[in-house]
Amino acid sequence: MSEARSLYKPLQFDDLTLEGNIFAAPLAGYTDRAFRTVCIENGADLCYTEMVSCEALVRGSGKTEELLKKADAEHIYAVQIFSGTVDAAGEAVRMVEQNKPVLIDLNCGCPVPKIIKSGAGSDLMRDPGRLYDIVRAMKDNTDIPVTVKIRTGWDAQSINFMDVAEKAVKAGAAAITMHARTRKQAYGGTADWSHLKTLKQELGDYPVLGSGDLFTAENVRDMLQETGIDGVMLARGVIGNPFLFRETKHLLTTGKTLPPPSPREKMETAFRQLELAVHYKDERTAVNEMKKQLCAYTKGLPGSSEARNRMVHSENFETYKEIFKEYLESFD
Ligand SMILES: Cc1cc2nc3c(=O)[nH]c(=O)nc-3n(C[C@H](O)[C@H](O)[C@H](O)COP(=O)(O)O)c2cc1C
Repeated sequence: MSEARSLYKPLQFDDLTLEGNIFAAPLAGYTDRAFRTVCIENGADLCYTEMVSCEALVRGSGKTEELLKKADAEHIYAVQIFSGTVDAAGEAVRMVEQNKPVLIDLNCGCPVPKIIKSGAGSDLMRDPGRLYDIVRAMKDNTDIPVTVKIRTGWDAQSINFMDVAEKAVKAGAAAITMHARTRKQAYGGTADWSHLKTLKQELGDYPVLGSGDLFTAENVRDMLQETGIDGVMLARGVIGNPFLFRETKHLLTTGKTLPPPSPREKMETAFRQLELAVHYKDERTAVNEMKKQLCAYTKGLPGSSEARNRMVHSENFETYKEIFKEYLESFD
C-alpha cells in the first residue's frame, strides 16, 4: 500500500468510528442542508452545520433551531455551536442533542468582532480557562462526543494552541481541529501547517484534524503527509466545488489525479443544490442565499458571465431554471 493510500483512513474518537477522514468544515452562510447534501454526494465523510448560537437556542429562536436540522441525505452529521458563557453552552447542548448529531463541536476560532465581543469564537483563545469550563459544561450535559475547533493563537505574539489544546483535552474533548492561522490573520496570509505538526506530535494518538489553505487534492495530501494529523476539514476550497471531496479521496486512495468536472456537471450540481435549497427553505431566501454559491460554481466557465449576470438579478426559482436550461443548451 502506498503512503498516499494510507492517508485516507477511518477515524475513531470516543465510541464513534467514522469511515473516512475528509470532512466538510463549518462555514457560516454556506453549510446549510443543501450544500451539505452535495458535499455528501461528492464524497465528504462528515459535514458540519454552520456555527449555531447557544444564546439564540436558549432564547428559543426558531430560525436558529432550523440550522440544527440534518439533511435527508445525511446518514450522520455534526453540529457546531458557539458560546461565550458556560450556562448557555450547557443548556444548548441538551437541545442540540435532540437532533442526534454524531458530535458537537465548539467554535473557538471565529474572528468576527460581534462574536468575540460576546466572549465566543476566538475570544476563547485568550481565555483557555473559560474554554475549559465551557467544554466541561457541554460534557456534563450530553453523552455525544464533544470536539473543539481552534486557531493557533490570538496573534503572532500569542501562539498558545498547545495550552488551549491541553485544556480542551483535560475537559474531555474527543478531538481537536486546528485552523492553522491566528485570529489576527482572519483568512488572510498563509496557514502555518508546522503548528499542526507540533500539535499532533505533542498529543500522540489523540485525534487532530487540520484546516487552512486546502484548495486542491494535492494540498490535502501534503497537509496529511507533512503534519501527520488524522484528518482534514475542507472549507473555502469546496465552495462551488464539492467535487474536491471525490478528487481528494481519489488521489489519496490511488495516487492519481481525477480529471476536473465538466462545465455541464458543474452546472447540474449547482442546480441540484439550488433545488435542494428551495426544498429546505422558502424560495426567496433560498435563491438569495444561493447567489454567491452559484457565482462560485460558474466562475471561469465558458460564456458564463451573461448567465451570472442574469442570475444575480433574479429572485425566483423559475427564472433560474430558465437561465440554467438556456446555459446548458449552449453546451450542446
Ligand atoms: C465564509 C466563511 C465562514 C466560516 N464559518 C465558520 C464557522 O461557522 N465555524 C468555523 O469553525 N469556522 C468557520 N470558518 C473557517 C473554516 O471552517 C476554515 O477553518 C477556514 O476557512 C480555513 O480553511 P481554508 O483556508 O481551507 O478555507 C469560516 C470560513 C469562511 C471563509
